[in-house]
Amino acid sequence: MNTGKQHISLATPHMSDEGYEQKFIKKAFDTNWVAPIGANVTGFEDEICTYIGAKAAAALVSGTSAMHLAIRAEGIGKGDIVLCQSLTFSASVNPVVYENATPVFIDSESDTWNISPEALERAFVKYPKAKAVILVHLYGTPAKLDEIIAICKKHGAVLLEDAAEALGATYGHKKCGTFGDFGILSFNGNKIITTSGGGMLLCNLPDADERIAKVRFWASQSRDPERYYQHSELGFNYRMSNIVAGIGRGQLLVLNERLAKKRYIYDFYSHELGGLDGLEMMPRISGQNCWLSCIQLNGSISSTNVMDALLADDIESRPVWKPMHLQPFYRNCDYINNGGVAERIFTRGVCLPSDTKLTNDDLDRVCRVIKVLWE
Ligand SMILES: Cc1ncc(COP(=O)(O)O)c(C=O)c1O
Repeated sequence: MNTGKQHISLATPHMSDEGYEQKFIKKAFDTNWVAPIGANVTGFEDEICTYIGAKAAAALVSGTSAMHLAIRAEGIGKGDIVLCQSLTFSASVNPVVYENATPVFIDSESDTWNISPEALERAFVKYPKAKAVILVHLYGTPAKLDEIIAICKKHGAVLLEDAAEALGATYGHKKCGTFGDFGILSFNGNKIITTSGGGMLLCNLPDADERIAKVRFWASQSRDPERYYQHSELGFNYRMSNIVAGIGRGQLLVLNERLAKKRYIYDFYSHELGGLDGLEMMPRISGQNCWLSCIQLNGSISSTNVMDALLADDIESRPVWKPMHLQPFYRNCDYINNGGVAERIFTRGVCLPSDTKLTNDDLDRVCRVIKVLWE
């Protein structure tokens, strides 16, 4: 679209002004560690563990592969039920199907937009043997962890925590990603920090070192310790490269700046748009990382009206994730409803530009385009 104005994006990569990422990459080139192994991979894993407070971590090619190996690590497979937050991106759930287990979708609650503890409790009445729960900290908003952990403990289910969008978010005194047996992070291009593409599997179990050693083994094609190539187990090519990990190490050095800017963007929108009749900001919860700032349109101006107006000004926005229980691929899966919260957020929700490179002028422009709809 050519409006003669500068395009405004939803969320794009934001490398450090200092060029930290390139320094780590240069070192990898200088030492010829251009491989899925090396000091950046190990360094990135250690630095993420220290920052987040996880016991051990494996750097992988994506958040999706991290969730896949978490499911394998828990021995989840054919015949197992996994209770999954419905309002999320498909990658939270697809790995359940990679392992031939059965997802059952759970509605959200409106305080956090995440999995409803009340609906989850009802799901365990229907599926008392459900093996695992996948919760998501959607858009960087921590889920109701105390309630969900208590429910999982009561029913002996494993908790897998999708913190792909929630790096830096906290719940109480701990960081998201450290509450489940396993947690996952994504460093996809649109995330709060990016490695161009990549992910991390975090383990918080007492035997985390062994569990993660096994994950690294699977992620490197499950090669047995023999001179020749022998495989006693199915392997995957999921390990992060040393170049990519170098980007991650550099990005980690500016994570606090990115977090501050994301929260600033939310507060800017809230201040400018919060008073519009029928426009509701997504819940603001302490500890949130505000990865994407979202709004809900509850009155006569619809989400489509807002997205169309922004598009006409060459401003990118996006609907909230379409819930998994509404996806054609998952049409045969069961769904535990909590009054249609996820569906309502999907139909009314809009993700606003939340790029950390946005200036106040850019943010002003986004708000002006929206406010015109109320005039
Ligand atoms: C909630 C959620 N889960 C999982 C993923 C998958 O991560 P990746 O794209 O790194 O595979 C993403 C993002 O892409 C996500 O937003």
